Amino acid sequence: MIYLDHNAITPMRPEAIAAVRAALEVFGNPSSVHAAGRAARDVLDRARGQVAAALGAAPADLVFTSGATESAALAIRGVLARAPAGRRRLVVTAVEHPCVLSLARALERSGPPRTVVPGARRGRGAPGRVRAALGADVALACAMRANNETGVLLPVPDLAHAAREAGVLFFCDAVQAIGKIPLDVRTLGADLVALTGQKFGGPRGAGALWVTPGLPLAPLSGGEQERGLRPGTENLPGIAGLGAAIEAACAAREEEAAGIGALRDRLEAGLLTAVPRARVNGADAPRLPGTASVTFQGCDAEALLMAMDVEGLCASAGSACHSGSTTPSGVLLALGLSEAEARSTIRFSLGWTTTAADVDAALRTVPPLVERVRAAIPAA
Ligand SMILES: Cc1ncc(COP(=O)(O)O)c(C=O)c1O
Repeated sequence: MIYLDHNAITPMRPEAIAAVRAALEVFGNPSSVHAAGRAARDVLDRARGQVAAALGAAPADLVFTSGATESAALAIRGVLARAPAGRRRLVVTAVEHPCVLSLARALERSGPPRTVVPGARRGRGAPGRVRAALGADVALACAMRANNETGVLLPVPDLAHAAREAGVLFFCDAVQAIGKIPLDVRTLGADLVALTGQKFGGPRGAGALWVTPGLPLAPLSGGEQERGLRPGTENLPGIAGLGAAIEAACAAREEEAAGIGALRDRLEAGLLTAVPRARVNGADAPRLPGTASVTFQGCDAEALLMAMDVEGLCASAGSACHSGSTTPSGVLLALGLSEAEARSTIRFSLGWTTTAADVDAALRTVPPLVERVRAAIPAA
């Protein structure tokens, strides 16, 4: 199998597997005061320290969650529940992950209005428009650090600074950035930062929310754990794996990013040379090292993905599938692509296990398949 879908999930790192295994043996409840509980608390504290060190944060400001979707919900709902009447609007960029965009849409039905800031041609989430949207009725602005479909980086420090000047709180989905580019909450400028384990070599189902000290946040449910912000008995093995993975990913970041970036560049250059009417999205913007969003004009991406899968090559489309019918990716449309172009776009994402042999195999496999799909399915 040639696996080029690391933005969806990346294999667990050995350090994370070892930490999960060890934590499975620690059966105590971290809330118990006896020896078994204290042993579990030690595992939790160690992981909290590892995540905090990776983010430049204080351990006490981290809340462990089930992943970034829950972290985003806690951040957004938690801020809105405490926002004064008259200041409850949400501002989100058009390129946010569904965990933010769908929540904003759902909340608007019964609660605060939202402003979706349209994309810009280079996929950076239109910083000028975000700034212009930060009116006196805005409680929270949301912008991701790096887009999962294109890898394009958003200028979060600038946006967060503008939000601060406007008295607006700022939530950053840092899911795709961690372990790939430097990320430190002291310089990011956001008030809330979400992350999830499976994107940097940790287990799935374990994530965290960093909350700036002193920020009043309402919990999603009742209970005492995680400072009352994320109650429920902690997922100890998942959290232990999260801590070990973020430590390992950040320690290896510079070296891995250089290698992955070179492989990504080689993949893109090879595809552009071998496939006529191919284009890389976001190529002129600052990007993550491992993401290549490639539009093969006139080639149905879903059919191409299936043909690639038959050849053992895993990637993903720039579009989400909903019960058989495909909706073109809002992120790609926000970037200025037409619906037809969005439906002809494949995301290749490389990660810490990707090798030159993987890229060579992809370069042998993809170009003839694109031609085959183009010939079999006439462009709409
Ligand atoms: C940018 C981004 N945000 C949020 C998420 C959601 O993460 P989780 O599945 O841990 O809730 C993902 C994962 O697909 C993502 O890529």
